[in-house]
Amino acid sequence: MPKDYFAQLSDQKSPPTYNFFDGEKWTASTSGKTVDVTSPINGNIIGRIQLVTFSEIDRAIMKARQAQKNWQAIPMIQRGKILHLAADWIRHHEYYLTTLLIKEIGKTTAEAKDEILRSADMIDYFANEGLNLRGEELSGEVFPGYDQTKMAIIERVPLGVILAIAPFNYPVNLSVSKITPALITGNSIVFKPPTQGAISSLYLTEIFRIAGVPDGTIVTLTGGGSDIGDYLCTHPQVDMVTFTGSSLVGKHIAEKIGMIPILFECGGNNPAIILPDADMEATAAEIVKGAFSYSGQRCTAIKYVLGLDPTIDKVLPKVVERTKELIKMGDPRIPENNLGPVISDAAADEIEKRILLAKAQEARIVYGGKREGKYIEPTILDNVRPSMEIIHTETFGPVVSFVRIKSIDEALTIINDSSYGLQASIFTSDEGAGINLAKKINVGTVQINSKPQRGPDHFPFLGIKGSGAGVQGVRYTLEAMTRLKPIVLNKPQ
Ligand code: G3H
Repeated sequence: MPKDYFAQLSDQKSPPTYNFFDGEKWTASTSGKTVDVTSPINGNIIGRIQLVTFSEIDRAIMKARQAQKNWQAIPMIQRGKILHLAADWIRHHEYYLTTLLIKEIGKTTAEAKDEILRSADMIDYFANEGLNLRGEELSGEVFPGYDQTKMAIIERVPLGVILAIAPFNYPVNLSVSKITPALITGNSIVFKPPTQGAISSLYLTEIFRIAGVPDGTIVTLTGGGSDIGDYLCTHPQVDMVTFTGSSLVGKHIAEKIGMIPILFECGGNNPAIILPDADMEATAAEIVKGAFSYSGQRCTAIKYVLGLDPTIDKVLPKVVERTKELIKMGDPRIPENNLGPVISDAAADEIEKRILLAKAQEARIVYGGKREGKYIEPTILDNVRPSMEIIHTETFGPVVSFVRIKSIDEALTIINDSSYGLQASIFTSDEGAGINLAKKINVGTVQINSKPQRGPDHFPFLGIKGSGAGVQGVRYTLEAMTRLKPIVLNKPQ
């Protein structure tokens, strides 16, 4: 473990109490209060994080405000070098960060390692793509009534201070996807990590600091969302909020913050439609991956599968077979296991409650359905109806529901009437039919013959309705974190 590198993050006791980063130093809060971070694997307290006070928030945000001007003045190529160095430090500490992530959020070894390496790649990509971001010059002469005496020099400028709120399921990667585009474009960052995942986020902060991000340009403020979330979001010195989390919290923040730009990724509740001509083996394999990776705690997980009776009768036994063969539930520290616990007892309670409710409402548990502590078996349900809670509201756990439809039009109605709109998958061997159907589905992205997913990270990634606001994906995030500033020149006639 690279102790010296990260020494100032905590008091080094067991379990450690972590400091927060006020923009200049790692420090304990004057509140004297901390929040426990417990491992979903065994419930052990693995650390405590500071619950910061409102005045500490005020001071830190003022530092971010002051630092932003100097940061913006540093040439982008230099800012990029600092970020590339951060990417290299992440790679250097990959093993340690992976181990931490497994303990802190219960990801399996492969999933945690993938998150860390993907984060380093993402930083490099953002830093490179930032260099291609440019404004433009427009002449008045192309619009009726104007001539060459009027021209606009249109610059792209940073927004100022960006508040980034990251979720527990990708505390490093979805933090990087917010912090890096903000920094490369000359913004400063007020970073609010999730409670579960906060420790990994604190390590990430230190990596950016040691790579050379100047004082005040990043501040990392910890505490429960219910304690400090509203105060942060409504802070008058915040110029933009970027958030990933549930639809419920997303709507709450959006209602509170007023007229500043937002970039939100919220709940997914993604459906998959299987057309009768689909390759049932390949489809079953994608459904298993889509439903159960990271125990179904991904906004891009497949939550329900729509098909006609004969299609479901063909694919469902294959999904069960593949689940038996591929999914091994157990302690995620053991590399052979690929389905770990869900994040908390409360989450497990909710998932179990919904499975039992669906059963009572005549859904059939085809596979799994049981729970041991925070471990929920990979669960496959048949005869689910769209009104049942298990799919009506996103169930953030390893459960996939099969919904038998009478026609493809019925599938369209179910998806388009849903309050979510992140992604949908279509499985078919006829790409043309897939594209035609995709055009009728009202979601952010439609995948043909794949599970829903965010990556590759330079593709646009967006949710509509309750699933988000604004577009992410490297270039799109860079654009969202900057604004156009026209300076109009009026020359003498
Ligand atoms: O949970 C939300 C993430 O953005 C999903 O990302 O599709 O790469 O797992 P992923």
